[in-house]
Amino acid sequence: MAQRETWTSRVGFIFAAVGSAVGLGNIWSFPFQTASNGGAAFLVVYLLAVFLIGFPTMLIEFVIGRRSKQNAVSAFSELGYGNWTFAGAIGVVASFITLSFYSVVGGWVISYIVGSVTGGYLGQAGTFFGSVSSGTVAIGAHAVFMAITIAIVAGGVADGIERATKFMIPAILVLLVGLAAWASTLSGSAAGYAYYLSPDFGVIANNFTSIVPSAMGQAFFTLSLGFGVMIAYASYLGRDDSLPADSAIIVVLNTVVALLAGFAVFPILAATSGVGGASGGAGTAFVALAGAFGQLPAGQIIGLVFFIVLLFAALSSSISLLEAPSSYVVDRYGVDRPKVAVGVGVVSFVIGIAPAYGYVGLFNDFVFNILLPVAVLFIALFAGWVANRESVDELGRGTTLGEGATTLWLWWVRVVIPIVVAYTLYLGVTNFYSGIVTGAYF
Ligand code: PFF
Repeated sequence: MAQRETWTSRVGFIFAAVGSAVGLGNIWSFPFQTASNGGAAFLVVYLLAVFLIGFPTMLIEFVIGRRSKQNAVSAFSELGYGNWTFAGAIGVVASFITLSFYSVVGGWVISYIVGSVTGGYLGQAGTFFGSVSSGTVAIGAHAVFMAITIAIVAGGVADGIERATKFMIPAILVLLVGLAAWASTLSGSAAGYAYYLSPDFGVIANNFTSIVPSAMGQAFFTLSLGFGVMIAYASYLGRDDSLPADSAIIVVLNTVVALLAGFAVFPILAATSGVGGASGGAGTAFVALAGAFGQLPAGQIIGLVFFIVLLFAALSSSISLLEAPSSYVVDRYGVDRPKVAVGVGVVSFVIGIAPAYGYVGLFNDFVFNILLPVAVLFIALFAGWVANRESVDELGRGTTLGEGATTLWLWWVRVVIPIVVAYTLYLGVTNFYSGIVTGAYF
């Protein structure tokens, strides 16, 4: 059997993991979740979710991946606990379903790039969204987005993913900083900063049962946790890197990108349609932003830059969504990587035809509210209670962490994460169910 590829450098691994984490979730979903959940109140809960739950959960995935040197499905049997394979399988299913609607939204971004060049959405943001978001245009753009994703993954770990993300991440940071700086010059921007940054704790108290699952789902989604993706990525990692250090870099960079996106979006909203009115959801994001670009001086160029950033971010994430199911098939059946990438991508494209006809919200909430918390709950129980010796040993490798720190992590994974995530799951299921029965998705 051919030797397993590894990252050509530690930096390559970090770039790829950040590339997976930074995506539509940061630049589009985060600002609009924040806008529709009370602004700074949501931000507070979201940051707690990222650092107190997301960060230690990322360590769980890294530990499992590096220890087993396998994809998320094979990892459990490789470690000697074959009957936990289902935990990894849930993540692979989540990746696969997410890819199908992620590619649809990626396709919208492509349509908005075209619209920025032709001026197609200027002065008619709502109509434009209607014409590109579902039906044949959406399916065509979805096909283009998926084809690009397949081409990158088919190139292999070091060649395709690493090269692509090394280029994308710095580009995203530079473009967002520019956009945020420009947005700060708009008159009326102050109200945007106030809404974004001054928390009203009454809002948290009154909307606790909706803010908590949204913030947790957003935290897992944005950090690519619960998908098995970070398991697969860490499986290519050398033994002596510090997992906590790598994880901290990834979490912080991902958070910086989301916060920067907020620093661009909120002043723009405040200067145009006003903050707090956005209801969240797929359409609102594109309609509000394109509407803002349509009203601003040089808005067409700003819009073009913004949507190119979004495309880069989306692609560096979608390649990891395709990588997760593909690496499973490659490892398990020894089939050629390019063939597998094409096969998995095409099937995911076909499933994506449903969201391309208007069901993005349904797919999104199913993943956010149910699949991700379920997957995280099981891997936490696994690492905390089943493979706890291996987990603690692997966490300590390549670090100077003392026993106190690894023990704290272990008990956090054993007790705090399962309780918090189980509660989130309960709220998420309740909200999803009421969305179905009230017809909110249809
Ligand atoms: N983290 C990505 C985002 O915020 O857009 C979404 C994602 C990408 C999740 C890749 C999972 C994944 F494997």
